[in-house]
Amino acid sequence: MRTLAHISDLHFGRVDPAVVEGLLADLEEVRPSLVVISGDLTQRARKHQFMAARDFLARLPAPYLVVPGNHDIPVYNLLTRFTDPFANYRRFISRELDAVHQDEEIAVLGLNTARSFILDFAEGRVNRTQMRRIRSVFTDLPSGVFKVVFTHHPFLPPPDAPDTRLVGRVRHALAALEEAGVELLLAGHLHRAYNGDVSSHHPQLARSILVAQASTATSTRLRSEPNAYNLISISRDDAPRRLEFLVRVWDGARFCAGLHSRYVKEGVRWHPVWDDPPLSAHAARA
Ligand SMILES: [Fe+2]
Ligand SMILES: [Fe+2]
Repeated sequence: MRTLAHISDLHFGRVDPAVVEGLLADLEEVRPSLVVISGDLTQRARKHQFMAARDFLARLPAPYLVVPGNHDIPVYNLLTRFTDPFANYRRFISRELDAVHQDEEIAVLGLNTARSFILDFAEGRVNRTQMRRIRSVFTDLPSGVFKVVFTHHPFLPPPDAPDTRLVGRVRHALAALEEAGVELLLAGHLHRAYNGDVSSHHPQLARSILVAQASTATSTRLRSEPNAYNLISISRDDAPRRLEFLVRVWDGARFCAGLHSRYVKEGVRWHPVWDDPPLSAHAARA
């Protein structure tokens, strides 16, 4: 089994320091296999904000992968914005903009969807090079390796806001993800936590791809939801494959158990299950 801690939208420069410490303490207890960070590490892409984010990453008790978000591109420094928008991100956070992790159970690919050249720079997109990368990373993996992609911008809108703008070129990207056998998409940007099957909104897909969106883990930029992160457990390749989402929610003093959801894979579809036993010991934690 693998356990991913999916954290997003840290927004250093607008964080609550108590929540930052609470998140690190919770991750220390959980000890995930991998931490996946889906962008917006900073509030305004300033150097000192990247340095604070770097110091946070250095304290994570597990390996991590990260992609930038739209807030990690400078807004006001137009020269940097258009000549080298990820200069500070590369310097302080990661030289890789499309990072990858692979072991015998799981392959995780991060795609940088943040763009400085599109008109509404809060939005993002997947480009054709990244669609080729999806194919090259996931093709020829040993069977049974579970395939995950994470981005800053979302592929699935919140259940109560179906018109929410999604990542650009979403249909083309989903076609590549479907063909590559990707099972799980993780994203942020909306500062809202929910999960579901992307094919519920994109009926052109012939099979399920699960989605988890994360709230902001540490910032005060809340959108009527508390700070939270996702803890995701994925069973080994024993049939049927099972997956568990646990939302860890800040209650004002610590991160504690929020909503949990479990899915089982049958054929090409993931189905929610209500009476299955918990997949991970984390489900029993308060
Ligand atoms: Fe954000
Ligand atoms: Fe964002």
